[in-house]
Amino acid sequence: MSATPPSPSPAAASPTAATPSPAASSLDRKAEAWSALFSEPMSELVQRYTASIGFDHRLWRADIEGSLAHAEMLAAQGIVSAQDLADIRRGLGQITADIEAGRFEWKLELEDVHLNIEARLTQLVGDAGKRLHTGRSRNDQVATDVRLWLRGEIDQLRGLLAALQRALVDQAERHAEVILPGFTHLQVAQPVSFGHHLLAYVEMFARDDERLADVRKRVNRLPLGAAALAGTSYPLDRERVARTLGMEGVCQNSLDAVSDRDFAIEFSAAASLVMVHVSRLSEELILWMSQNFAFVDLPDRFCTGSSIMPQKKNPDVPELARGKTGRVVGHLVGLLTLMKGQPLAYNKDNQEDKEPLFDTVDTVRDTLRIFAELVAGLVVKPEAMERAARRGYATATDLADYLVKKGLPFRDAHETVAHAVKLAIAEGRDLAELPLERLQQMHPAIGEDVFGVLSLRGSLDARRVVGGTAPEQVRAQVARHRGRLG
Ligand code: ARG
Repeated sequence: MSATPPSPSPAAASPTAATPSPAASSLDRKAEAWSALFSEPMSELVQRYTASIGFDHRLWRADIEGSLAHAEMLAAQGIVSAQDLADIRRGLGQITADIEAGRFEWKLELEDVHLNIEARLTQLVGDAGKRLHTGRSRNDQVATDVRLWLRGEIDQLRGLLAALQRALVDQAERHAEVILPGFTHLQVAQPVSFGHHLLAYVEMFARDDERLADVRKRVNRLPLGAAALAGTSYPLDRERVARTLGMEGVCQNSLDAVSDRDFAIEFSAAASLVMVHVSRLSEELILWMSQNFAFVDLPDRFCTGSSIMPQKKNPDVPELARGKTGRVVGHLVGLLTLMKGQPLAYNKDNQEDKEPLFDTVDTVRDTLRIFAELVAGLVVKPEAMERAARRGYATATDLADYLVKKGLPFRDAHETVAHAVKLAIAEGRDLAELPLERLQQMHPAIGEDVFGVLSLRGSLDARRVVGGTAPEQVRAQVARHRGRLG
């Protein structure tokens, strides 16, 4: 299949010898004019401007699937004959084979994927091809195609999201006991388990998956039968077509069915959140890989060097993912803007839904694939993480909690510890390095047992609340995710 359609060629419009002569239908003459009503053809520029075949040929499989379901229903309802259906099936079978083999000739003058396939079908099977469009319009056809295509893509993306989550869960289990500083305001706050940190992203991606599953329900409804905008006078069995296509139901208002693209917009919103989550992870990987943190290393296959600075190893993949998040969010805004001014029902504006949608799917798909591998290959440096956690008085809260347990009101304990930290800073030591007598000067209730509390491990182990960072909690969460992800 050629990605870019050839420039208009008059030969493209000529019917084959096998075609009965009336099959030289308005479709074949579209290059010159739509119908007897038109007195002049489009200029080449207008043709290029209005055509979507350059990108919407990607919908071909959905287009054929939708046409087959429509034709089967037309035959079952006695609207077309069994012979017509057989011809349509044969013709669409041949077209499928030709497209798969890269033999199909996409023609710019036939504007879009729908007209290209229909024109070729008529060339191949004659009048039966011309009957396929009975009770149908490109308006309900394109809405159906996009939904069918998107449904398949959502299923694929969900599989990739699960793979990324599994990679994170594996790393989390391996590093449940590894301690790094947890930050707020990017200032050292409290020690946390690296496994716990990674599982935060698993939660985000799990919610992304829930959102995609929910969007899928609304994507998976059938517009066909809405025809151009008002429904059709043919006795169509829309429920049957929906069943054939595995859709959950039919759109209940024909005007809405052909015009709204909210399903594409909410998919883009869900996809944007996936990217925002990947982007946050990317930002952390970039920071962690910097010499100033040196918490992790990325395998060389995800990095590039510098053409001028021989020592450089740059985290290009996370940087690009962070950058590509901008374009996916941009597509969301583009689609929202595309929709906002449109009166009912279908408007050609909607042809502009495809490129942002396709690019969103491509970008998210590649990003998720790469990140599953990247996370699996992440090299963790526990000593550097722990060293960082020792700087910055990460266990100050633990000392305050200790004093509360000795009977001090929390606010007083907070104040006492602030003095202790001030002293430690002045002496250039960690809290745990202050002698017991100095600590007791801060408060007489402090005893020998304080050193257990001031250790990173003690701080971690104490946070055993559900959702807390204690390694035993982290392992419990790992088990829960494993059960969920299968
Ligand atoms: N290529 C068109 C699209 O993507 C198909 C629908 C055209 N309908 C029409 N009335 N011009 O929206």
